[in-house]
Amino acid sequence: MSMQARIRSVRYEAEGILSFRLEPMPGAEFPPFTAGAHIDVTLGQRLVRSYSLLNDPAQRNVYEIAVQLDPGSRGGSRLIHAQWRAGQVIEISEPRNHFPLVEDARHSVLIAGGIGITPMLAMAARLTALDRSWSMHYAVRTRARAAFLDRLGAWPAVRLTVDDEPDTPRLDLAALLRDVPANAHVYCCGPAPMLDAFRRLGAGLGSRLHFEAFSSDAEAAVEGGYVVRLARSGRSVEVPCGKTMLDALLDAGVDVPFACSEGICGTCRIGVLDGTPDHRDQFLSAEEKAANDSIMVCCSGARTATITLDL
Ligand code: FES
Repeated sequence: MSMQARIRSVRYEAEGILSFRLEPMPGAEFPPFTAGAHIDVTLGQRLVRSYSLLNDPAQRNVYEIAVQLDPGSRGGSRLIHAQWRAGQVIEISEPRNHFPLVEDARHSVLIAGGIGITPMLAMAARLTALDRSWSMHYAVRTRARAAFLDRLGAWPAVRLTVDDEPDTPRLDLAALLRDVPANAHVYCCGPAPMLDAFRRLGAGLGSRLHFEAFSSDAEAAVEGGYVVRLARSGRSVEVPCGKTMLDALLDAGVDVPFACSEGICGTCRIGVLDGTPDHRDQFLSAEEKAANDSIMVCCSGARTATITLDL
């Protein structure tokens, strides 16, 4: 369900990063959220973006998000940086959490790359409130791009690594994951190469490994040339070259939920009843992809001439 929110303030956090404090409209309330949750922000008819809530989940009626200007932006971050001002009313979704914290873990290791720091801030606040043991590793490319150092300074368990400072030790993911304390849970949010390394190096940790992508490097499948059969309505929709499956479905008037449009949030997941998906997302695990029984229609395509969806 969507709701309105007012931008109470805008803050410069670091080079290319602005944070926004959102508050409910008069007489309304924001639903509570849990650490790791995100909201979807509607920026246009087909332009929706997901942002992690970074403030302390104990704070009522305040949502804080941060947006990094992405030079390759397809409109999301560019539009926000250019147009959002304090006082403006925007449309957001209720918070959802695909990156929940295991609150009773003996120890939690939080690993953030760049703007991936945002969910970690909420997690650190929650773990602190619960008096749990935790540590954080925050890697940035340059010190100028290190956001939220003022907030992080309150926590001694935070270690900052800066790529372009030769005297600062680099983030050593392999060593970190090798030395994870027994029963600790490990969380990572960062760019795709960091997440790939995290998943590969930490595979042995099984369900104690948690991750979330904030943007996708993968190219959406726009080759087209296949037909989507909709099992429930009996309709067929052709996907032409140049369009994603989602675009073709929306053009045909099919109501499909979506948010990030980048294969990272999980909103557009649809069951596959027949045919083979061409998975391009970062949401499904390798096992889920191999099962071929669901697809993220915003970015994935089909390897077969037809694909039948549970729609
Ligand atoms: S809309 Fe986010 S994964 Fe498809």
